[in-house]
Amino acid sequence: MNESLLRKNIREIKAYVPGKTISGLIKLASNENPFGPSPKALEAIKKETSNLHIYPDQSSNKLREALSNKFSLPAECFVCGNGSDDIMQVLAASYINQGDEVIISKNTFSVYELVSKIYDGNAVFVDLKEFAVDLGAISSAITSKTKIIFLTNPNNPTGTIFTAGEFDSFMKNIPENIIVVVDEAYAEFVESKDYPDVLKYIKQGRNVIALRTFSKFYGLAGIRIGYGIGPKELLAPLFKVKMPFNVNRLAQAAAVAALDDKKFLEKTFKNNAEGKKYFYSEFDKLEIDYKKTEANFIFVNLKRPAEEFAKSMVEKGVIIRSLQSFGLPQAIRVSIGLPAQNKKFVSLLK
Ligand SMILES: Cc1ncc(COP(=O)(O)O)c(C=O)c1O
Repeated sequence: MNESLLRKNIREIKAYVPGKTISGLIKLASNENPFGPSPKALEAIKKETSNLHIYPDQSSNKLREALSNKFSLPAECFVCGNGSDDIMQVLAASYINQGDEVIISKNTFSVYELVSKIYDGNAVFVDLKEFAVDLGAISSAITSKTKIIFLTNPNNPTGTIFTAGEFDSFMKNIPENIIVVVDEAYAEFVESKDYPDVLKYIKQGRNVIALRTFSKFYGLAGIRIGYGIGPKELLAPLFKVKMPFNVNRLAQAAAVAALDDKKFLEKTFKNNAEGKKYFYSEFDKLEIDYKKTEANFIFVNLKRPAEEFAKSMVEKGVIIRSLQSFGLPQAIRVSIGLPAQNKKFVSLLK
């Protein structure tokens, strides 16, 4: 293939590196729900299969109604996607002009960079500060060309959050012509009382979009469904740009049912809260350097080559994530699993 045929920005793109899945092994690599899918979602999927010959609702209206009730915002303030990364792409396609700057934290989820480059935006990277998103440095990186700022809260892969107070101060300096995207893929796991209320800004009509997903807390990573929340004027163009039937019937039905699966969601939250405490106490005993997490994974700074470590773990039956592809070659990310899975990881670590 002749490289020169490719658009310039596409030549620079590195392919997304997913967590590995190997049958029979314990997977603590992709922050999936260790209990599997929500049982209510599974039931809804089975029911929906008899309608598979009919196109899905192009706007996922039932789901948007359910989200509207959950968040007390009009249904027009929600857009659904084939995973939240689909919404990132549609957002970039809707708003990025060639040469627009997109501010992204370094060492974070790579899809922000991917979608920015696909649409000829210039990704501007800002260092993390002590492995956390540095809102001050991000503010300082704003120029007249800035179009979008991607923030991740809790941050992947470090599990840290920026607080409500920090976000409020940050928002005071954001000009109206910049879109602030807050990726809250792990919001449902947060225990801190200082987690920002991004919806407050959406209600004020600011150019802010929160991204959420059913892939993590709700256990539906494999069916692909996520959503964006934003002022309806900001979201309206996304409905023109997205592919008409981007969210399939099974995903829509599953998501509506999962939102309502109280028992499953409580179990998921409790397991995660207990799992992280277990990891903290074991890591403390081993004097391992880690970050306290508000998500369903823990960042461990191994201070030795992570890729080799991850390989040796796979040989022993546990898949964790080396953060080499995140630009952190000496660190790993471990998803919080079931107690026996966590224990197995710790025993290998020892
Ligand atoms: C921060 C962050 N955002 C978004 C996603 C992707 O979510 P989805 O499965 O909804 O595309 C992930 C998945 O790992 C993530 O870590």
